[in-house]
Amino acid sequence: MLDLAGKVAFVTGAARGQGRSHALALAQAGVDVVVTDICGDVSSIRYPLATPDDLQETARLVKDLGRECLPFVVDVRDGDALDATVAEAVDRLGSLDICIANAGVCGHGKFWEITDSMWDDMIGIDLTGVFKTLRAVTPTMVAQGSGRIVATASMGGRMGNPNLAHYVAAKWGVIGLVKTLALEVASYGITVNAVCPATVDTQMVHNDSMYELFCPGMGSPSRGDVEPIYAQLSPMRVPWVDPQDVTDAVLYLVSERARYVTGSTLDVCTGATAGMP
Ligand SMILES: NC(=O)c1ccc[n+]([C@@H]2O[C@H](COP(=O)([O-])OP(=O)(O)OC[C@H]3O[C@@H](n4cnc5c(N)ncnc54)[C@H](O)[C@@H]3O)[C@@H](O)[C@H]2O)c1
Repeated sequence: MLDLAGKVAFVTGAARGQGRSHALALAQAGVDVVVTDICGDVSSIRYPLATPDDLQETARLVKDLGRECLPFVVDVRDGDALDATVAEAVDRLGSLDICIANAGVCGHGKFWEITDSMWDDMIGIDLTGVFKTLRAVTPTMVAQGSGRIVATASMGGRMGNPNLAHYVAAKWGVIGLVKTLALEVASYGITVNAVCPATVDTQMVHNDSMYELFCPGMGSPSRGDVEPIYAQLSPMRVPWVDPQDVTDAVLYLVSERARYVTGSTLDVCTGATAGMP
């Protein structure tokens, strides 16, 4: 039994994938949810991001669970928009107890072929976007004297990974942000942690661009074709985990059971990071 009823959560990248899964699980636990997403594409990212309809569908599903849901189209690169959204959410829902900084993108290229725009978009969204999200929610939590923050890093934030330099740099950076903020807000009753998923069964990894990275020379591989190749990346030989597997880690970190867990990374990695210090 979770202890989250009556709380308010703010989730970025909530239109689909892991963000939607987190939003629905929080709603199921009695939490009102502010769901945000860019709802549009980014030029250097070679797969489609979520749509306005995806975000409305997340909101509908949350409301079907009997909770309040406020959907906002917000790009996490826009700090002013994030600040305004948090202010409106607190005004309308009364508090902000949980933040899940989940929005992110992935792309690939050899280190020396990563262009300035690929680098800037990746760092802008996956690192600076997390910084701006955490900066937007922290003052409210400090004033409340309580809060739970979880940022989505990656197993790529725990190791090097060929062809993903910009993604890996951003995700290592997220862990640095989390550990630093955890120290700054520990005395205010706020915990800050990161989840580090392995490959997750979402559109971020099921698209032609990622298939091309992991299955070069296969022509036009299908989901079935790539499954054994993704499985090779996992010590448990699991091709991908479910969004719910990551959601379960998030739910633990935002619950009272994790009250003394802060500045940590919780790896949902099928063992991929077990050899890391
Ligand atoms: N799928 C994986 O294998 C995997 C593994 C490890 C970590 N992650 C991380 O998990 C998080 C969620 O990804 P997912 O797997 O659900 O993929 P996804 O592509 O389904 O979801 C990501 C969401 O973020 C949104 N988004 C992208 N850029 C944004 C921006 N600038 N502002 C606001 N929203 C934006 C997208 O529209 C999308 O709805 C990401 O941070 C990702 O890096 C994913």
